[in-house]
Amino acid sequence: MTQAVLELRELVKRFGGLAATDHLNLTVHAGEIHALIGPNGAGKTTLIHQISGAIVPDSGRILFDGKEVTRMPMHDRVTIGLARSYQITNIFNNLSVLDNLALAVQARAGSSMRFWRPVLSEQSLFDEAYAIARQIGLGNRTGFPGASLAHGEKRRLELGLALATKPKLLLLDEPMAGMGQEESAGIVPLIENLRGKVTVLLVEHDMDTVFRVADRISVLVSGRIIATGTPDDIRRNPEVKKAYLGDEVIA
Ligand SMILES: Nc1ncnc2c1ncn2[C@@H]1O[C@H](COP(=O)(O)OP(=O)(O)O)[C@@H](O)[C@H]1O
Ligand SMILES: [Mg+2]
Repeated sequence: MTQAVLELRELVKRFGGLAATDHLNLTVHAGEIHALIGPNGAGKTTLIHQISGAIVPDSGRILFDGKEVTRMPMHDRVTIGLARSYQITNIFNNLSVLDNLALAVQARAGSSMRFWRPVLSEQSLFDEAYAIARQIGLGNRTGFPGASLAHGEKRRLELGLALATKPKLLLLDEPMAGMGQEESAGIVPLIENLRGKVTVLLVEHDMDTVFRVADRISVLVSGRIIATGTPDDIRRNPEVKKAYLGDEVIA
């Protein structure tokens, strides 16, 4: 049986009379890129926030790596391997790309080791930071301050900061939002490159990207998952077509 990294059981989150998450069940398998799609207002961001710990569900359970995390604070979830892509506001503008990444690596190493042990040596810290910089396509920008980066480069660095925590599960909520076409196109191979290295739950509205990178797709409508399956399953699912995809042509 495939191992579940994340299991959501009968999750409910209400805002006043509105059930933004409505008895939702979802399983994310180890190693997969799992895309979450659905119309605006379907509850995608609300769901990601419950998984990251930014908001607490009203009822139901969240199991991560077999452990109950439903009410665990966000920073504790990060230390057990649950990362969301950081916001641009988490980037230190006056520090170089490399120093930003080294700090994130340091934060992980420091929190996962006993306090009287030395954290990673400075050399291995920066080796790892360099490796991540190359992985996110910023290998030639390592000496540049955060503030000097273009918008798309900042979004790449956010991804790098999340990867520096060595997550078991990476949550990406619209990683290409606000990017131009060229910048967006550059992110797709980065996500594909994560396959097999880190489990990814990806919210993305660009259907070409979703159907290209996802191993499995779940369709969220009005707080409920109406279908989960391979891109082919989802493409052919009549209920999905009716509720969401409509006549949209999917490559
Ligand atoms: N903090 C909040 N307070 C009240 N309603 C909210 C809040 N956050 C989201 N909602 C509502 O919950 C529903 C789901 O929103 P959201 O999770 O942002 O959807 P999506 O990310 O799929 O577009 C929407 O109707 C939205 O207006
Ligand atoms: Mg959203």
